[in-house]
Amino acid sequence: MPTAVITGAGIRLGKAIALALAEAGYDLALHVHRSTEGAEEVATRARALGRTATVHRANLGDPKELESLAASLRAAHPAIDVLVNNAGIFERVAFEDITREQYHRMMGINLEAPFFLTQALLPALRAAPQPLVVNLTDIGAERVVSHYAHYTASKAGLIALTRALAVELAPRVRVNAISPGTVIFPEDYDEAARRETLARIPLGREGSAEDIARTVVFLAREAPYISGQVIAVDGARSAQL
Ligand SMILES: NC(=O)c1ccc[n+]([C@@H]2O[C@H](COP(=O)([O-])OP(=O)(O)OC[C@H]3O[C@@H](n4cnc5c(N)ncnc54)[C@H](OP(=O)(O)O)[C@@H]3O)[C@@H](O)[C@H]2O)c1
Repeated sequence: MPTAVITGAGIRLGKAIALALAEAGYDLALHVHRSTEGAEEVATRARALGRTATVHRANLGDPKELESLAASLRAAHPAIDVLVNNAGIFERVAFEDITREQYHRMMGINLEAPFFLTQALLPALRAAPQPLVVNLTDIGAERVVSHYAHYTASKAGLIALTRALAVELAPRVRVNAISPGTVIFPEDYDEAARRETLARIPLGREGSAEDIARTVVFLAREAPYISGQVIAVDGARSAQL
């Protein structure tokens, strides 16, 4: 059975991506930071489908924890077919108020972790027949929203990393990014913020976690000639002025 590693697999997009990959026939290695219960639920559901599932805890903002995560993933799964760098943080702060600590935490989790986790798992990826890395970026990395300078920079860096690795790791490893638009509103959005956002989405609705999960499965199963691409899944939001 092919194996997929998903970071941040206990909630929301990561959880949906993991479940969709299990349904598509992948054994799962689920990374989690705090949402252990959610990851255990995904593991139970994957096992009910006949897949194997392991759960691995790590704070991806801590390089030592990232190294031991990579070591335990390599030990449990010598060949990794799909790595989904989904875990990330999101925080609204005015540019002049962003501290070095906030900047480094943002870069550490959103950019350094995908960089060094992919590097550490490369031998296992290369051991799979058609390996794929998918990075979760954001349409906001290329068309910006005010008050997210450190977040925007981290996701723009992840887009650049996607393209760099698609070239350098070819022809063995494909590397793509998925840029969600608004997929499940942030919990702190009130009714007015939700209405204002929906008015800017031509397809007239927020995306669902399954919209993203289906795109990951498409890249894994149906797209052997797609690499180095950033796929917006945003209801055409980024297509209009
Ligand atoms: N939802 C959207 O509309 C949207 C839009 C654009 C881009 N995205 C991107 O899509 C991805 C998933 O989005 P989401 O909305 O599902 O995110 P979310 O609900 O904010 O979940 C964040 C995930 O990142 C993990 N995480 C946070 N801090 C961590 C740390 N220090 N170490 C390890 N893991 C950590 C969390 O793990 P635990 O829960 O286990 O702690 C959680 O699984 C993110 O990269 C996000 O930037 C989402």
